[in-house]
Amino acid sequence: MINFKQEIAKQIAKVTNLDEKELESYIETPKDVKNGDYAFPCFRLAKELKKAPMQIASEIKEKIEIDNGIIEKIEVISGYLNFYIQKECLTKEVLQEIQKAEYGKSNIGKGKTVLVEYSSPNIAKPFHIGHLRTTVIGAALYRIYKYLGYNTIGINHLGDYGTQFGKLIEGYKRWGAEYNLEENPIEELVKIYVRINELCKEDETVLEACRENFRLLEQNDPYCVDLWKRFKALSLKEFQRIYDMLGIKFDSVIGEAFYIDKMDKIYELLEKANVLKESEGAKIVDLEEQGLGACIIQKSNGSSIYVTRDLAAIRYRAQTYDFDKCLYVVAYEQALHFKQLFEVAKYLDIPEKCKKGLRHVQFGMTRLSTGKMSTREGNVIKIEDLLTEAIHRVEKVIQEKNPDMTNQEEEAKKIGIGAVIFNNLANTIIKDQVFDWDQVLNFQGETRTIYSIYLRKNKKYIRKSRICAKSRRNKNRNITR
Ligand code: ARG
Repeated sequence: MINFKQEIAKQIAKVTNLDEKELESYIETPKDVKNGDYAFPCFRLAKELKKAPMQIASEIKEKIEIDNGIIEKIEVISGYLNFYIQKECLTKEVLQEIQKAEYGKSNIGKGKTVLVEYSSPNIAKPFHIGHLRTTVIGAALYRIYKYLGYNTIGINHLGDYGTQFGKLIEGYKRWGAEYNLEENPIEELVKIYVRINELCKEDETVLEACRENFRLLEQNDPYCVDLWKRFKALSLKEFQRIYDMLGIKFDSVIGEAFYIDKMDKIYELLEKANVLKESEGAKIVDLEEQGLGACIIQKSNGSSIYVTRDLAAIRYRAQTYDFDKCLYVVAYEQALHFKQLFEVAKYLDIPEKCKKGLRHVQFGMTRLSTGKMSTREGNVIKIEDLLTEAIHRVEKVIQEKNPDMTNQEEEAKKIGIGAVIFNNLANTIIKDQVFDWDQVLNFQGETRTIYSIYLRKNKKYIRKSRICAKSRRNKNRNITR
């Protein structure tokens, strides 16, 4: 790859007669990409040249040759010379570089363990596009850490616990025979769930029966446990189909229910630390001082809650993996939950480095133009439908543009799914996304870039046209397409 710093230093040396190596050592990378790809601080030369930095900058700018196919333009910004590399040249260089084997691989993580928790869907609920970002961003982080030599563990923390299972069991008891769970498990379970919820609203005794089922489930009642296991296995089978399509793997798939018998220890540790307080019958840790309100640890009926299971999971993970970092790839909607969790985790009997290594990797929510997705209201878009549609659209493009392509079905799968993944990673992760079929499946602009890279990589089609990544950093500039 062209050493751009060296090229810039060479040009500056030519017009100043200063030492090229020394000049190169001064070159910086601007913090804001708007200010170019490289910057040269002219105040470094002020003493030697006995001139003001601004003047030095203007003079160098005037004299430097930029028609060498590398530098596109130079700007003087408060005593700095800012260099913009020609987009075409940069793109070509970068593409060539990343296609080399083991690009970016290193061993900086040797001896360190990073846990990446991602995806974590709730069983018996549709795996919808709201789960796509955690799944895709998490899997990318997992691969990056692994590539950097960290001992990396990918965790899927399944939501397999909660009062809704009492409801599902009740619904199944009543109408199970009417639904074909084998064929379309999650869809059918959702129907049962919606129906039993309706009935609960009308009839208090049904709600009571649901609560009783949940209590029985917690007490290991064989009938309830068997049903719950079946719901879980059926859901996992569906999730797995999507993970396979996306090429995503986990090293550990453990549901929240796994932590039930590990909860007493959490209460005990918090009691011992003298931070567990009674509040309206519930047990809480008061985090007012930290500006985080009250963190409920145990409900007034004695049952555990989401955060308690997460505390038990941290303790289990620290004991099992002795991790240096544990990343939670979860939407910002749960920011308060994670702040409270990490605060309360300080009272656990785990190594300090584990406590310090807890991180919430937040990202924006995916909404529909009609508002938030809701399983109960049935207005969700399933990931599987999105991927199928993406493949379908690519097939059409191939038929139009490359009708002679061999293996069209396989290629369309790779490109279509790749485009969906790329689209998720390319958007600023903290921003909310309003889901739009045409934008997500838009094969122009940025998405086109991976299509091109893919084709080049497979060396099947050499595109003469330029491959221009319309990346965010280029947005304000003139790009030749
Ligand atoms: N199952 C949860 C949900 O769908 C996400 C779990 C996030 N991870 C965690 N450790 N709390 O909202």
